[in-house]
Amino acid sequence: MNGSYKYKILKKLQQSTPSPVSGQQLADDFGLSRTAIWKYIKQLEEEGYTFETIRKKGYILTSQPNSIDPAKIKAALETTTFGETIIFEETLASTQPVAHQLAQEGAKVGTVVICEEQTLGRGRMQRPWQSQKGKGIWMSVILRPDVPPYEAPQFTLVAAVAIAKGIEDVAGIRPQIKWPNDLLIDGFKITGILTELQADPDRVNALIMGIGINVNHTMDDFPEEIHGIATSLKLQTGREIDRAVLIARILYYLEYYSNQYVKEGFLPIKKEWESYSCTIGQTIKVTTLTEVFYGKAVAITNDGVLKVQLPDGETKSVYSADIEL
Ligand code: BTN
Repeated sequence: MNGSYKYKILKKLQQSTPSPVSGQQLADDFGLSRTAIWKYIKQLEEEGYTFETIRKKGYILTSQPNSIDPAKIKAALETTTFGETIIFEETLASTQPVAHQLAQEGAKVGTVVICEEQTLGRGRMQRPWQSQKGKGIWMSVILRPDVPPYEAPQFTLVAAVAIAKGIEDVAGIRPQIKWPNDLLIDGFKITGILTELQADPDRVNALIMGIGINVNHTMDDFPEEIHGIATSLKLQTGREIDRAVLIARILYYLEYYSNQYVKEGFLPIKKEWESYSCTIGQTIKVTTLTEVFYGKAVAITNDGVLKVQLPDGETKSVYSADIEL
């Protein structure tokens, strides 16, 4: 049986919930028999979807499994190219090296590598990244913007805006962005972004955008050492979030804003970034590879560089660092 019909039917039912869609309507829409529609509904039930069947009215989708099956993500996608290719594995050491390898082999823009669990997930500065099975979104997305390598760090800010918007749409909660790569809710970390580069001296070949989002964790799912630092969307909203729907929404915004960046530059996205920022105006501790200092975050430039005013009034440009609020 053709799996793509199954998810087209699912998409139709998702869109019409809570109204029913008749078997005849579905059969007409997809040029299939009513028996074929019924068989697809049975297959979806075997995957954990539940339907109410109302006589003479049709099917209502009543619940969905919280899986990140590529076909389920695709059913929720509203992109042109992002998410067309999704590589899914139950367990990976990390999605990053897999995406690097695929990018080297010519994988197209918007290719996604995703898994349920990472055994060696990593963050910036080679820190470990906790990636509990079935709880979060652990994915790497391949971008291929036609920009020089020095513009690559701005894509971390582009991704931060895309993820913030996706979370806001799907979870109904507004995260804050901590420059350059963290999303927080109430001061607790919800998302980390790891942007890695494959480039020639004057041109980006690929950006590997590693995205980790704590979605459906309870506090017990986090190791003790990050209690007090990390949180999840479920802990913050009190409800289970559909990860496939959230992934699809983030891919939508990632496609939108990365295309906008290439056409119009960073300026329009900077305004969005500023509206989510919890960094600007704060006194911060800045740790770079070579120094540690304190100052007030006063602005980001049109290139995404953080301007920090030191106690003596001098202003420093910070290109890459860890900051603490
Ligand atoms: C950070 O906050 O330091 C960045 C964390 C990035 C984590 C994601 S999860 C998916 C991808 N695979 C990894 O090993 N890391 C990134």
